[in-house]
Amino acid sequence: MKQSITSKQKGLSSSTAAVISEALGQSELFLEFQERLSQVAPINRPVLLIGERGTGKELAAARLHYLSNRWQAPMVALNCAALSPSLIESELFGYEKGAFTGALQRRFGRFESADRGTLFLDEIGSIPMEVQEKILRVVEYNVFERVGSSESIEVDVRIIAATNADLNDLVRKNLFKPDLLDRLSFEVLFLPPLRERKEDITLLAGHFAGRMALELGRNEIPVFSDEAVESLEKHPWPGNIRELKNVIERAVYRSDAVTITDIDFHPFHSPYENPARPVSIKTPSIEMTPADANLRLNQPLKEAVWQLKVKMLEAALRKAKFNQKKAARILGLTYHQFRGLYRQYKTANDVTISV
Ligand SMILES: Nc1ncnc2c1ncn2[C@@H]1O[C@H](COP(=O)(O)OP(=O)(O)OP(=O)(O)O)[C@@H](O)[C@H]1O
Ligand SMILES: [Mg+2]
Repeated sequence: MKQSITSKQKGLSSSTAAVISEALGQSELFLEFQERLSQVAPINRPVLLIGERGTGKELAAARLHYLSNRWQAPMVALNCAALSPSLIESELFGYEKGAFTGALQRRFGRFESADRGTLFLDEIGSIPMEVQEKILRVVEYNVFERVGSSESIEVDVRIIAATNADLNDLVRKNLFKPDLLDRLSFEVLFLPPLRERKEDITLLAGHFAGRMALELGRNEIPVFSDEAVESLEKHPWPGNIRELKNVIERAVYRSDAVTITDIDFHPFHSPYENPARPVSIKTPSIEMTPADANLRLNQPLKEAVWQLKVKMLEAALRKAKFNQKKAARILGLTYHQFRGLYRQYKTANDVTISV
């Protein structure tokens, strides 16, 4: 595979350029996907990439470009969802001086910058209908006009589009042009979600962990405990590979040991949560008798919940022989959540527990 990255590749995010050679996977679904990608890459036709967030659409687009005959020409990307509908047209086609207020000088658009190369239209479902019409004309006749000009400009651009939206549904709702969809879908590649390629989870986790350790200047490659592997394989990964990468990088940086035991899937769970919030009690280590329940009706809920937390915290610490990491696991908390609770406990009781 061609890996040379040139400065001409403007528009391509640096993350893609940096990881161009790193589309990892060994599952059958992933290998099948890569095979279809390699097959269509050299064919001079549009490709539509469909997949959930974080499945690797941008990476796949970059691979399509570098495996095509256009690899030495620029790959230019435009995230259509990041721009207001009125800006998309001038970004794509450029404009002439004076075309609209603020157009102080002529500007080339992405189609011109991508001439002889590839234009990656990310989130294509966000493109307004009028602009779709203009894109269709480039796809069919290789010509367009800058905004504010009647001069036709000829370009040779291959379009790769990506979306997470249901484009056929957008067509039904009159939000997407059926003829553009027909032209873009010469080949449609579906990126498999991570939950469907469980075999790849540990492979990717090991890869991201190794890279993070290197970045942190650690001299040992991290490994995962059996429990950690099990939890990685059980997680549904709604954010797919991007989520996995973040989760693993966080676990590596937080772990003092080479063996990673704690995986924090939800960093937004506040350790300072409002004590009035209902707590889910996963660990049946403290039994609530009917008497206990009656007792709690005689005091404010906040106070009762706090007392329950204290009881469970003390019980978990005792059970874990005051090993805080173990206690966190017993309580079904991440170490950081546990530390937050423990700090609250210490402040409230002004106690010192030897750990
Ligand atoms: N097969 C893979 N091997 C290694 N890393 C991967 C792989 N697929 C994706 N990644 C990494 O996962 C992250 C997300 O990939 P990418 O940006 O291509 O996804 P996306 O589908 O475009 O996401 P979004 O829909 O949110 O834009 C990137 O850091 C990318 O390098
Ligand atoms: Mg993307």
